[in-house]
Amino acid sequence: MNIILASAEVAPFAKRGGLGDIAQFLPTDWEKFGQNSIVILPKYRDINVDFYGFKPTYRILYVPLGNWTEFAHLWEGRLPDTNVPVYLVENDDYFNRNGIYGDPDEYPDNDRRFIFFSRSVFETAKSLNFKPDIIHSHDFHTAFTMAFLKSHYRYDPLFNQTAGVYTIHNLAYQGWFDPDRAMFFSTFGIKEFYPGCWFEHYGKVNAMKTGIMFADKITTVSPTYANEIRSGYYSEGLQDVLNLRGADLIGVLNGVLYTEWNPSIDLYINHKYDLNSLEKKKLNKLEFLREHKVEDYDNPELPLVGMISRLTEQKGLDLLIDKLEYYLDNNIFRFVLLGSGEARYTDYFKYIQWKYPGKALIHLGYNTSLSHQIIAASDYLILPSRFEPCGMTQMFALRYGTIPVVRQTGGLADTVFEYIPATGNGNGFTFWHYNSDDFAYAMRRALSIYQQEPHWTIIRKNAMSCDYSSSRSALEYLKVFTWALEKVR
Ligand code: ADP
Ligand code: GLC
Repeated sequence: MNIILASAEVAPFAKRGGLGDIAQFLPTDWEKFGQNSIVILPKYRDINVDFYGFKPTYRILYVPLGNWTEFAHLWEGRLPDTNVPVYLVENDDYFNRNGIYGDPDEYPDNDRRFIFFSRSVFETAKSLNFKPDIIHSHDFHTAFTMAFLKSHYRYDPLFNQTAGVYTIHNLAYQGWFDPDRAMFFSTFGIKEFYPGCWFEHYGKVNAMKTGIMFADKITTVSPTYANEIRSGYYSEGLQDVLNLRGADLIGVLNGVLYTEWNPSIDLYINHKYDLNSLEKKKLNKLEFLREHKVEDYDNPELPLVGMISRLTEQKGLDLLIDKLEYYLDNNIFRFVLLGSGEARYTDYFKYIQWKYPGKALIHLGYNTSLSHQIIAASDYLILPSRFEPCGMTQMFALRYGTIPVVRQTGGLADTVFEYIPATGNGNGFTFWHYNSDDFAYAMRRALSIYQQEPHWTIIRKNAMSCDYSSSRSALEYLKVFTWALEKVR
């Protein structure tokens, strides 16, 4: 199959969260299954083109926008360790800026930037004469590709046999656009905007709704989230739209590229280990503590609890904040955080760092190598998320024998199962009610088996044996693609 994957994030070039991981992992696996995919993303200023070996193609794209034409250059590179072509769309006005979505606040012209990018996906394919069977777009940024496919490019011979598949990674970010601007930039014209039309939601253009309505098939990133979002609490106001397209909505669980996240070959950790050399995991913890100048680093008895996260309300930080000082005051565990995000949370963690030196190891910012080291060094990883479409870090943690403690929602509920000491089944600890006492109770159960044999070995082996490989997701997407093609052929 010829597949175009269009995304605002693709790891390792430009990533803020799990979207970037998935946009890298899927095409990497599709190549193994003999599929012919190309990846398209904007050429943001922060992408290190020299480091990743991107070269200009000297192709110029003519991108219709509003009532004029804009231009872009195309750069070409490859996904790491593959032959999958990656095209960067270069337009300095839109993308030669700091960050991806803003710096730090969202750019006010993100409507225009991402409508431009969505349109340039088609112009890229035309320039390359690439005839896609599937256009696979992700989240609100590339949602307009679904509308363009069914309208402006519907009779183009390159696209008249193409199906559109739209993947929802997070309904919390929908892309609410001003109708005058969005309808103009997308060249639909304001006459196409009226109450109840496929673009409209509560009087605004809603990019997420647009993607959902125009796609042939809609996927989201875990079966549980696919169910949750059909009702009010998780749908962020889109339950009617999602139920309208309910027959075409399917949950495909994300997966992990185990050549990147694997403790036996991880380039970022010094002490490699696997299921049969689990005792070496501790060396990573000792080294990590030593590097952090923790005075009693030789006290491995104190559990190390980690968290790697965007710092937003979604991630359940309020539950942690309610209990963290109790844990640290009472020497119950040592805490390590790697995260970036909202000021109310970064301020809080700065305070914790100041108050608990050596007990709270706080890293504010974005750091890929540290994320691997923390997963390897920690005994537990927490995700008390209020909602979590899938979550990647719990799946990374499992492979590293780092025990997840999670709220049972979305993909967390599909990947982490309560450990039952009586049977020796389970790979982590879970709670359901969103309150800090239930979180604390799950933590208590988790900590109660810390270094308690045989449980500590059994649960970690159970965790490391779980197979949440991205190959499985990649195959499932191929089934969805075949199903989507039935709609257009
Ligand atoms: P989300 O996409 O909602 O942020 P996920 O768990 O799906 O949550 O994915 C988060 C991804 O981003 C993981 O690959 C995680 O390791 C990475 N990540 C999050 N915060 C940081 C950070 N501060 N530094 C490095 N990697 C991070
Ligand atoms: C979103 C979700 C996260 C998911 C990721 C990749 O950012 O918040 O749960 O794992 O996308 O699909």
